[in-house]
Amino acid sequence: MTAMKPWKTLDDMDLAGKTVLTRVDINVPMENGRITDITRIERILPTLRDILAAGGKPVLLAHFGRPKGEVRADMSLSMVREGLEIALGSPVKFAANCIGVDAKHGIAALEAGETLLLENTRFHPEETKNDAMFAASLAALGDIYCNDAFSAAHRAHASTEAIARLLPSCAGRLMQAELTALEAALGAPKRPVVAVVGGAKVSTKLDLLGNLVGKADHLIIGGGMANTFLAAKGVSVGKSLCEHDLAETAREILTKADAAGCEIILPRDITVAREFKANAEHSVLPVDACPEDAMILDIGPETGAYLAQVIGAANTLIMNGPLGVFEMEPFQKGTFDMLSVIAAQTNAGELVSVAGGGDTVAAINMAGNGDDFTYISTAGGAFLEWMEGKTLPSVAALS
Ligand code: 3PG
Ligand code: MG
Repeated sequence: MTAMKPWKTLDDMDLAGKTVLTRVDINVPMENGRITDITRIERILPTLRDILAAGGKPVLLAHFGRPKGEVRADMSLSMVREGLEIALGSPVKFAANCIGVDAKHGIAALEAGETLLLENTRFHPEETKNDAMFAASLAALGDIYCNDAFSAAHRAHASTEAIARLLPSCAGRLMQAELTALEAALGAPKRPVVAVVGGAKVSTKLDLLGNLVGKADHLIIGGGMANTFLAAKGVSVGKSLCEHDLAETAREILTKADAAGCEIILPRDITVAREFKANAEHSVLPVDACPEDAMILDIGPETGAYLAQVIGAANTLIMNGPLGVFEMEPFQKGTFDMLSVIAAQTNAGELVSVAGGGDTVAAINMAGNGDDFTYISTAGGAFLEWMEGKTLPSVAALS
C-alpha cells in the first residue's frame, strides 16, 4: 500500500548518530519476577533493530503498571531489562530515572549497538498529567522521538503525547503495522465487513456498538452482551448475565443498525447450564427456551452454522470479544468453532481478519489460532477506542 500517511516513519528520519527516544509498551505480565508473556517485547524488536542498523541510539521510554506517580520497586522496569536484552540479542543498559542525571549519564555512556532502557515514566506524577515541563525534560535527552507504543496510544501522557510536539517525530514499525492493519479493517475495508463483539457487558461497549453499526454489514454479538439484547427483545434469559437496565439502549442500537443496513446477529440457539463451572451439566435449546433457573453460557450449533455462512461470504472481519465462556469446557465451543472458520478463510486468502483485546487474544491463543489471523493487535484499550472511532491522542500528536 502506498497511501499517504499523515505521520512519518523511521524511513523518513536520518538516524545515524542520533539519540532516538523511543516510546514502547513493554507493560508485560509478570509472576514472581518472571515475564509470563513476551509478545509485547517481541513486537518492538523490528523498531529497535532498524534504529540500531541505521546507527541510531535507541533510548526507551516506557511505563510499567500503574504506580500513580510513586517510585515502587515492584513496578521497576529493571525487571524487564534482561528479558528485553535476551530477545533483542544485543546489550540493553538501564538508567534508574527517566529524566535528570541518571538518564543523561546513561545516554552519554551508551556505545554503538547498545540500547538504553529508562526507568518507568509513571514514577513521575507529571507523566499521566501530560505535563509540558516534564515532557520538555524527556525531550531534552534526545534528537528524535519515535512512538512504537500503539497499545498506549489512547493515553495522552507526557511520553506519548506532549513529547511528540517537541521533537522531530515518527511512528515505529509496530505502530505502523497496527495502524495499517486497523485502517484495512475499518478505514477502507473490502466489503462485506463482519464485526464480532463479545464480552460480559454492553455498558462497556456502547460507543463501540454505536460506531460499528455504521461501518459493518453484519455485527455478531456474543457473550453476556447478547443476553442484554435478547432480553430487550422480550426473550427470557433466566439467570444469565444480563444488564436489564440497558434494554432501552439495546433497542436504540437495534433501530440504528436497521437504519444503517447493518444486520445484528444474536444467538438463535443457546447452550445453557444451571451451574457456572467447567463441565457443568448442560443442554442446547432454542433461544427462547432458556429455563428460569439456567444461564446461557454459549451459543448453539445452529447459530454456529449461520456464523460460518456469514463469515464465509465476508471479505473483512474485525473481532473484539468472545462468544461464550471460553475459559470453561465445553462452553468454548461456539467461540472456537467460529475461530476455526475465520482461520480457514484467512489462510485461504479470502478474508482479512483483525483481532484485539486481552480476552480475545487469550481465546485465539487457547484455540491455537495465534498465527491464523491477518493481524492480531497488541492493544486492549487502544484497540477498543480505535474501533469506537475515537482519535487516539498520541497518534494525533504524530501527525
Ligand atoms: C496496556 O497494558 O493495556 C497498556 O500498556 C496501557 O496501560 P494502562 O491501561 O495502564 O494505561
Ligand atoms: Mg470469504
